[in-house]
Amino acid sequence: MSAQYPVARPRRLRRTPALRRMVAGTRLHAADLILPLFVKEGIAEPQPVASMPGVVQHTRDSVRKAAHEAAEAGVGGLILFGIPAVKDARGSAADDPDGILQVALRDVSAEVGDSLVVMADTCLDEFTDHGHCGILTPSGDVDNDATLERYASIAVAQASAGSQMVAPSGMMDGQVGAIRAALDDAGYGNTPILSYAVKYASAFYGPFRDAAECAPQFGDRSTHQQDPAGPLGEALREIRLDLAEGADAVMVKPAMAYLDVITRVRDEVEVPVAAYQVSGEYAMIEAAAANGWVDRDRLIMESLVAIKRAGADLILTYWATEVARRL
Ligand code: PBG
Repeated sequence: MSAQYPVARPRRLRRTPALRRMVAGTRLHAADLILPLFVKEGIAEPQPVASMPGVVQHTRDSVRKAAHEAAEAGVGGLILFGIPAVKDARGSAADDPDGILQVALRDVSAEVGDSLVVMADTCLDEFTDHGHCGILTPSGDVDNDATLERYASIAVAQASAGSQMVAPSGMMDGQVGAIRAALDDAGYGNTPILSYAVKYASAFYGPFRDAAECAPQFGDRSTHQQDPAGPLGEALREIRLDLAEGADAVMVKPAMAYLDVITRVRDEVEVPVAAYQVSGEYAMIEAAAANGWVDRDRLIMESLVAIKRAGADLILTYWATEVARRL
Protein backbone atom coordinates (compact mmCIF):
# COMPACT_ATOMS: atom_id res chain seq x y z
CA MET A 1 0.00 0.00 0.00
CA SER A 2 1.54 3.32 -1.06
CA ALA A 3 1.54 6.31 1.24
CA GLN A 4 -1.01 7.88 -1.11
CA TYR A 5 -3.61 5.14 -0.63
CA PRO A 6 -6.58 5.58 -1.07
CA VAL A 7 -6.25 7.66 -4.23
CA ALA A 8 -9.98 8.28 -4.52
CA ARG A 9 -11.02 10.44 -1.59
CA PRO A 10 -14.64 11.59 -1.82
CA ARG A 11 -14.08 13.47 1.43
CA ARG A 12 -12.03 16.08 -0.47
CA LEU A 13 -15.20 17.67 -1.82
CA ARG A 14 -16.87 17.69 1.58
CA ARG A 15 -14.14 19.51 3.45
CA THR A 16 -15.59 23.03 3.67
CA PRO A 17 -19.04 24.57 3.62
CA ALA A 18 -18.07 26.44 0.44
CA LEU A 19 -17.08 23.21 -1.33
CA ARG A 20 -20.27 21.46 -0.23
CA ARG A 21 -22.39 24.39 -1.31
CA MET A 22 -20.74 24.62 -4.72
CA VAL A 23 -21.14 20.94 -5.55
CA ALA A 24 -24.65 20.54 -4.13
CA GLY A 25 -26.82 18.56 -6.52
CA THR A 26 -30.15 19.52 -5.00
CA ARG A 27 -31.10 23.12 -4.37
CA LEU A 28 -34.32 24.22 -2.81
CA HIS A 29 -35.75 27.49 -4.02
CA ALA A 30 -38.46 29.51 -2.34
CA ALA A 31 -40.40 29.62 -5.61
CA ASP A 32 -40.69 25.81 -5.54
CA LEU A 33 -42.70 25.95 -2.33
CA ILE A 34 -46.47 26.10 -2.02
CA LEU A 35 -48.07 26.98 1.34
CA PRO A 36 -51.39 25.36 2.31
CA LEU A 37 -53.63 27.70 4.34
CA PHE A 38 -56.86 26.96 6.21
CA VAL A 39 -59.50 29.64 6.52
CA LYS A 40 -62.54 29.18 8.72
CA GLU A 41 -65.80 31.05 8.50
CA GLY A 42 -67.14 32.99 11.46
CA ILE A 43 -64.20 32.94 13.87
CA ALA A 44 -62.84 36.09 15.51
CA GLU A 45 -59.34 34.79 16.29
CA PRO A 46 -57.09 32.26 14.54
CA GLN A 47 -57.57 28.80 16.08
CA PRO A 48 -54.48 26.68 16.69
CA VAL A 49 -54.60 23.15 15.26
CA ALA A 50 -53.57 20.94 18.18
CA SER A 51 -52.08 18.17 16.06
CA MET A 52 -50.13 20.63 13.88
CA PRO A 53 -48.21 22.97 16.23
CA GLY A 54 -47.62 26.26 14.41
CA VAL A 55 -50.53 25.80 11.98
CA VAL A 56 -53.82 27.62 12.54
CA GLN A 57 -57.29 27.86 11.12
CA HIS A 58 -57.21 31.42 9.86
CA THR A 59 -59.74 34.20 10.09
CA ARG A 60 -60.41 36.31 6.99
CA ASP A 61 -57.93 38.85 8.31
CA SER A 62 -55.21 36.50 9.41
CA VAL A 63 -55.23 34.56 6.13
CA ARG A 64 -54.51 37.79 4.27
CA LYS A 65 -51.62 38.44 6.59
CA ALA A 66 -50.25 34.90 6.18
CA ALA A 67 -50.52 35.26 2.40
CA HIS A 68 -48.70 38.57 2.54
CA GLU A 69 -45.89 37.07 4.62
CA ALA A 70 -45.55 34.13 2.23
CA ALA A 71 -45.34 36.48 -0.73
CA GLU A 72 -42.73 38.60 1.01
CA ALA A 73 -40.66 35.51 1.75
CA GLY A 74 -40.74 34.59 -1.96
CA VAL A 75 -42.93 31.49 -1.65
CA GLY A 76 -44.11 30.32 -5.07
CA GLY A 77 -47.78 29.72 -4.33
CA LEU A 78 -50.58 29.29 -1.82
CA ILE A 79 -53.31 26.70 -1.73
CA LEU A 80 -56.42 27.60 0.24
CA PHE A 81 -58.75 25.26 2.10
CA GLY A 82 -62.08 26.58 3.40
CA ILE A 83 -64.02 25.49 6.47
CA PRO A 84 -67.61 26.72 6.26
CA ALA A 85 -69.82 27.56 9.24
CA VAL A 86 -72.61 25.38 7.87
CA LYS A 87 -72.15 22.01 6.18
CA ASP A 88 -74.71 19.91 4.35
CA ALA A 89 -74.86 16.69 2.37
CA ARG A 90 -73.98 18.27 -0.97
CA GLY A 91 -71.40 20.73 0.35
CA SER A 92 -73.37 23.75 -0.82
CA ALA A 93 -70.85 26.26 0.56
CA ALA A 94 -68.16 24.89 -1.75
CA ASP A 95 -69.48 26.62 -4.88
CA ASP A 96 -71.39 29.45 -3.23
CA PRO A 97 -69.86 32.71 -4.53
CA ASP A 98 -70.11 34.01 -0.96
CA GLY A 99 -68.76 30.78 0.58
CA ILE A 100 -65.72 31.17 2.82
CA LEU A 101 -63.24 29.79 0.29
CA GLN A 102 -64.39 32.15 -2.46
CA VAL A 103 -64.40 35.11 -0.04
CA ALA A 104 -60.86 34.23 1.05
CA LEU A 105 -59.70 33.79 -2.56
CA ARG A 106 -60.90 37.32 -3.36
CA ASP A 107 -59.32 38.77 -0.19
CA VAL A 108 -56.01 37.01 -0.68
CA SER A 109 -55.83 37.82 -4.39
CA ALA A 110 -56.39 41.49 -3.59
CA GLU A 111 -53.63 41.28 -0.98
CA VAL A 112 -50.90 39.55 -2.97
CA GLY A 113 -51.81 40.28 -6.60
CA ASP A 114 -49.50 38.45 -8.94
CA SER A 115 -46.60 38.15 -6.51
CA LEU A 116 -47.36 34.46 -6.04
CA VAL A 117 -49.81 31.91 -7.44
CA VAL A 118 -53.07 31.73 -5.51
CA MET A 119 -54.81 28.39 -5.85
CA ALA A 120 -57.64 26.44 -4.27
CA ASP A 121 -58.09 22.84 -3.23
CA THR A 122 -61.06 21.64 -5.25
CA CYS A 123 -62.91 19.08 -3.17
CA LEU A 124 -66.00 18.57 -1.05
CA ASP A 125 -64.86 16.96 2.19
CA GLU A 126 -64.41 20.24 4.08
CA PHE A 127 -67.94 21.24 3.03
CA THR A 128 -70.03 18.12 3.52
CA ASP A 129 -71.66 17.25 6.84
CA HIS A 130 -70.66 13.58 6.37
CA GLY A 131 -67.02 14.48 5.63
CA HIS A 132 -66.78 12.53 2.38
CA CYS A 133 -65.23 13.98 -0.75
CA GLY A 134 -68.42 13.69 -2.80
CA ILE A 135 -72.13 13.17 -3.10
CA LEU A 136 -73.28 9.97 -1.44
CA THR A 137 -75.62 7.33 -2.82
CA PRO A 138 -78.46 6.21 -0.51
CA SER A 139 -76.26 3.31 0.59
CA GLY A 140 -73.41 5.65 1.55
CA ASP A 141 -71.00 5.16 -1.36
CA VAL A 142 -69.40 8.16 -3.01
CA ASP A 143 -71.26 8.62 -6.31
CA ASN A 144 -68.49 9.31 -8.81
CA ASP A 145 -70.47 10.96 -11.59
CA ALA A 146 -72.78 13.03 -9.39
CA THR A 147 -69.64 14.29 -7.66
CA LEU A 148 -68.06 15.32 -10.96
CA GLU A 149 -70.86 17.84 -11.53
CA ARG A 150 -70.18 19.33 -8.11
CA TYR A 151 -66.41 19.55 -8.72
CA ALA A 152 -67.01 21.27 -12.05
CA SER A 153 -69.19 23.88 -10.41
CA ILE A 154 -66.76 24.37 -7.52
CA ALA A 155 -63.82 24.88 -9.87
CA VAL A 156 -65.72 27.56 -11.78
CA ALA A 157 -66.68 29.30 -8.51
CA GLN A 158 -63.03 29.22 -7.42
CA ALA A 159 -61.73 30.54 -10.73
CA SER A 160 -64.26 33.35 -10.74
CA ALA A 161 -63.21 34.27 -7.19
CA GLY A 162 -59.64 34.72 -8.40
CA SER A 163 -58.06 31.31 -8.03
CA GLN A 164 -55.23 31.28 -10.55
CA MET A 165 -55.06 27.51 -10.54
CA VAL A 166 -57.39 24.78 -9.26
CA ALA A 167 -56.27 21.57 -7.60
CA PRO A 168 -58.81 18.75 -7.57
CA SER A 169 -58.01 16.38 -4.71
CA GLY A 170 -61.00 14.03 -4.52
CA MET A 171 -59.70 11.15 -6.68
CA MET A 172 -62.95 10.76 -8.65
CA ASP A 173 -62.51 9.16 -12.06
CA GLY A 174 -62.80 11.79 -14.79
CA GLN A 175 -62.51 14.79 -12.45
CA VAL A 176 -59.84 16.59 -14.45
CA GLY A 177 -61.77 16.31 -17.72
CA ALA A 178 -65.02 17.44 -16.11
CA ILE A 179 -63.34 20.45 -14.52
CA ARG A 180 -61.43 21.34 -17.72
CA ALA A 181 -64.65 21.36 -19.76
CA ALA A 182 -66.51 23.46 -17.18
CA LEU A 183 -63.69 25.99 -16.86
CA ASP A 184 -63.45 26.31 -20.65
CA ASP A 185 -67.23 26.77 -21.01
CA ALA A 186 -67.24 29.44 -18.31
CA GLY A 187 -64.47 31.44 -19.95
CA TYR A 188 -61.61 30.21 -17.76
CA GLY A 189 -59.73 28.43 -20.50
CA ASN A 190 -56.48 29.86 -19.18
CA THR A 191 -56.85 28.55 -15.64
CA PRO A 192 -54.46 25.62 -15.18
CA ILE A 193 -55.29 22.42 -13.30
CA LEU A 194 -52.84 20.96 -10.79
CA SER A 195 -54.23 17.49 -10.37
CA TYR A 196 -53.76 15.43 -7.23
CA ALA A 197 -53.25 12.57 -9.66
CA VAL A 198 -51.59 10.05 -7.37
CA LYS A 199 -53.12 10.22 -3.94
CA TYR A 200 -52.86 7.36 -1.51
CA ALA A 201 -55.39 6.47 1.19
CA SER A 202 -52.91 7.47 3.85
CA ALA A 203 -52.86 7.61 7.62
CA PHE A 204 -50.50 10.56 7.18
CA TYR A 205 -53.58 12.77 6.59
CA GLY A 206 -54.71 12.35 10.21
CA PRO A 207 -53.89 15.85 11.49
CA PHE A 208 -55.34 17.49 8.34
CA ARG A 209 -58.73 16.14 9.28
CA ASP A 210 -58.54 18.18 12.50
CA ALA A 211 -57.31 21.24 10.64
CA ALA A 212 -60.00 21.07 7.97
CA GLU A 213 -62.64 19.48 10.21
CA CYS A 214 -63.34 16.84 7.59
CA ALA A 215 -62.96 13.42 9.21
CA PRO A 216 -65.49 11.12 7.52
CA GLN A 217 -68.43 10.44 9.85
CA PHE A 218 -68.38 6.79 8.74
CA GLY A 219 -66.23 4.68 6.45
CA ASP A 220 -63.01 5.91 4.87
CA ARG A 221 -61.59 7.01 1.51
CA SER A 222 -60.14 3.70 0.42
CA THR A 223 -62.69 3.17 -2.37
CA HIS A 224 -61.31 6.20 -4.22
CA GLN A 225 -57.82 6.95 -2.91
CA GLN A 226 -55.06 4.52 -3.89
CA ASP A 227 -53.99 1.60 -1.75
CA PRO A 228 -50.46 2.19 -0.43
CA ALA A 229 -49.71 -1.40 -1.44
CA GLY A 230 -51.26 -0.99 -4.89
CA PRO A 231 -49.19 -1.65 -8.02
CA LEU A 232 -46.92 1.16 -9.19
CA GLY A 233 -48.61 0.91 -12.58
CA GLU A 234 -51.78 2.22 -10.98
CA ALA A 235 -50.00 5.48 -10.14
CA LEU A 236 -48.65 5.81 -13.68
CA ARG A 237 -52.09 5.09 -15.12
CA GLU A 238 -53.68 7.79 -12.93
CA ILE A 239 -51.05 10.22 -14.21
CA ARG A 240 -51.62 9.34 -17.87
CA LEU A 241 -55.39 9.61 -17.52
CA ASP A 242 -55.15 13.02 -15.86
CA LEU A 243 -52.78 14.30 -18.53
CA ALA A 244 -55.10 13.03 -21.25
CA GLU A 245 -57.96 14.86 -19.52
CA GLY A 246 -56.00 18.10 -19.56
CA ALA A 247 -54.01 18.31 -16.31
CA ASP A 248 -51.28 20.97 -16.54
CA ALA A 249 -49.28 19.69 -13.58
CA VAL A 250 -49.58 16.56 -11.43
CA MET A 251 -49.14 15.81 -7.76
CA VAL A 252 -48.03 12.83 -5.71
CA LYS A 253 -49.26 12.68 -2.12
CA PRO A 254 -48.02 12.05 0.58
CA ALA A 255 -44.36 12.74 -0.14
CA MET A 256 -41.82 11.16 2.19
CA ALA A 257 -43.20 7.63 2.21
CA TYR A 258 -43.69 7.75 -1.58
CA LEU A 259 -40.37 9.10 -2.85
CA ASP A 260 -40.07 6.13 -5.22
CA VAL A 261 -43.41 7.08 -6.79
CA ILE A 262 -42.29 10.70 -7.20
CA THR A 263 -39.18 9.50 -9.04
CA ARG A 264 -41.14 7.22 -11.34
CA VAL A 265 -43.66 9.94 -12.14
CA ARG A 266 -40.86 12.46 -12.76
CA ASP A 267 -39.26 10.06 -15.26
CA GLU A 268 -42.59 9.49 -16.98
CA VAL A 269 -43.95 12.99 -17.67
CA GLU A 270 -42.92 16.35 -19.08
CA VAL A 271 -45.23 18.50 -16.94
CA PRO A 272 -44.29 19.89 -13.52
CA VAL A 273 -44.52 17.33 -10.72
CA ALA A 274 -45.62 18.47 -7.28
CA ALA A 275 -45.37 16.53 -4.03
CA TYR A 276 -47.40 17.23 -0.89
CA GLN A 277 -45.55 16.96 2.41
CA VAL A 278 -48.76 16.28 4.28
CA SER A 279 -50.03 17.03 7.76
CA GLY A 280 -48.76 13.80 9.33
CA GLU A 281 -45.26 14.36 7.97
CA TYR A 282 -45.33 17.83 9.49
CA ALA A 283 -46.77 16.64 12.80
CA MET A 284 -44.23 13.84 13.24
CA ILE A 285 -41.27 16.16 12.86
CA GLU A 286 -42.78 18.88 15.07
CA ALA A 287 -43.70 16.36 17.77
CA ALA A 288 -40.30 14.68 17.81
CA ALA A 289 -38.62 18.10 17.86
CA ALA A 290 -40.82 19.28 20.73
CA ASN A 291 -39.57 16.29 22.70
CA GLY A 292 -35.98 17.22 21.92
CA TRP A 293 -35.46 13.97 20.01
CA VAL A 294 -34.45 15.46 16.65
CA ASP A 295 -32.95 18.69 15.34
CA ARG A 296 -36.08 20.36 13.97
CA ASP A 297 -34.50 22.83 11.57
CA ARG A 298 -32.11 20.32 10.04
CA LEU A 299 -34.81 17.71 9.70
CA ILE A 300 -37.17 20.10 7.93
CA MET A 301 -34.50 20.96 5.37
CA GLU A 302 -33.42 17.34 4.99
CA SER A 303 -36.99 16.19 4.38
CA LEU A 304 -37.52 18.86 1.72
CA VAL A 305 -34.21 18.15 0.01
CA ALA A 306 -35.16 14.47 -0.14
CA ILE A 307 -38.47 15.27 -1.82
CA LYS A 308 -36.77 17.57 -4.31
CA ARG A 309 -34.01 15.03 -5.01
CA ALA A 310 -36.64 12.37 -5.66
CA GLY A 311 -37.87 14.54 -8.52
CA ALA A 312 -40.49 16.97 -7.26
CA ASP A 313 -40.42 20.36 -8.97
CA LEU A 314 -42.91 21.83 -6.52
CA ILE A 315 -43.42 21.00 -2.86
CA LEU A 316 -46.52 21.74 -0.84
CA THR A 317 -45.38 22.21 2.74
CA TYR A 318 -46.75 23.82 5.88
CA TRP A 319 -43.23 25.16 6.50
CA ALA A 320 -43.13 27.07 3.18
CA THR A 321 -42.84 30.59 4.61
CA GLU A 322 -40.34 29.66 7.31
CA VAL A 323 -38.16 27.73 4.87
CA ALA A 324 -38.38 30.40 2.17
CA ARG A 325 -37.05 32.92 4.70
CA ARG A 326 -34.19 30.61 5.57
CA LEU A 327 -33.13 29.98 1.95
C1 PBG B 1 -58.99 16.54 0.46
C2 PBG B 1 -57.59 16.71 0.95
C3 PBG B 1 -56.98 16.05 2.00
C4 PBG B 1 -55.68 16.57 2.09
C5 PBG B 1 -55.55 17.54 1.10
N1 PBG B 1 -56.73 17.59 0.39
C6 PBG B 1 -57.53 15.06 2.96
C7 PBG B 1 -57.92 13.73 2.52
O1 PBG B 1 -57.82 13.34 1.37
O2 PBG B 1 -58.40 12.98 3.38
C8 PBG B 1 -54.64 16.15 3.08
C9 PBG B 1 -53.51 17.12 3.30
C10 PBG B 1 -52.68 16.84 4.49
O3 PBG B 1 -52.80 15.80 5.17
O4 PBG B 1 -51.86 17.71 4.82
N2 PBG B 1 -59.68 17.78 0.35
